[in-house]
Amino acid sequence: MKPVRKAVFPVAGLGTRFLPATKAMPKEMLPVVDKPLIQYAVEEAIAAGVTELIFITGRNKRAIEDHFDSMPELEAELTNKNKIELLERVQNIIPPYVSCIYTRQPAPLGLGHAVLCAAPIVGDEPFLVLLADDLIDAQTPVARQLVEAAHQYNGSIVATQQVDRQDTSKYGIVSGTSVDSTTTRLQGIVEKPRPEDAPSTQAVVGRYVLEPEIFEHLRKTQPGAGGEIQLTDGIASLLKTRNVFARQYEGTRYDCGSKDGFFNATVEIGRKYHNL
Ligand code: UTP
Repeated sequence: MKPVRKAVFPVAGLGTRFLPATKAMPKEMLPVVDKPLIQYAVEEAIAAGVTELIFITGRNKRAIEDHFDSMPELEAELTNKNKIELLERVQNIIPPYVSCIYTRQPAPLGLGHAVLCAAPIVGDEPFLVLLADDLIDAQTPVARQLVEAAHQYNGSIVATQQVDRQDTSKYGIVSGTSVDSTTTRLQGIVEKPRPEDAPSTQAVVGRYVLEPEIFEHLRKTQPGAGGEIQLTDGIASLLKTRNVFARQYEGTRYDCGSKDGFFNATVEIGRKYHNL
């Protein structure tokens, strides 16, 4: 498999669960302690060796572009006031060898459709997808865990965790055969099954390494659960012709797309930050 140099960040969703906070501000810019959610995801991708960040944006998402752009007037002010530590933090949000590319999803037609919008930029290479609202605190960044496993098994791979059976209808759920203690070769993947229909309790979370063949499958994918073009359905089609794996990641995930998860992330990461 070719090296994974590109990461796609779908950030075009409406974030309705956080209204009114997300009426004028992107969900991905909600801060946990002193960094927006999207910065945690970007740092994770860079730690996995990525050098090209591809953001799939939509209406009201300009704040994300501004966040990753330089801001000369702020930098001049911090320099004048000799606030060197803050200056470095602002200047080092993204290292100089990493570039950002922004493209628009014309309407929030679903995660699968958002990923498809990256096709002309990704080209013929494997790539990461990171959903910023899944904040995962891990010793080895989960994106890196996945990239290493993708190379080891030579295929696409999704991050998974065990969930309670009553929660399967909130996730994509996988089924397959074990290839090692944390890795499964997928035989099936289904979006938001009812607990009684779920083939397992192994749920997909927001980290993927995908081979470029996924785009052909997404082009043919019809709207599924919730009337949206689902990435899960594209992967279900991909695994008919290519190897796809699931890896139970090591780390602690906070579902920052929900208020409970966001609150827990703020408390736990805040505690760590202050060494409490
Ligand atoms: P969510 O399912 O959390 O949707 O999307 P959402 O619209 O952002 O939030 P709620 O449910 O209304 O509160 C998961 C990720 O996929 C992106 C979102 O921005 C989020 O990062 N996404 C989703 C898109 O980029 N485009 C879409 O059409 C849908």
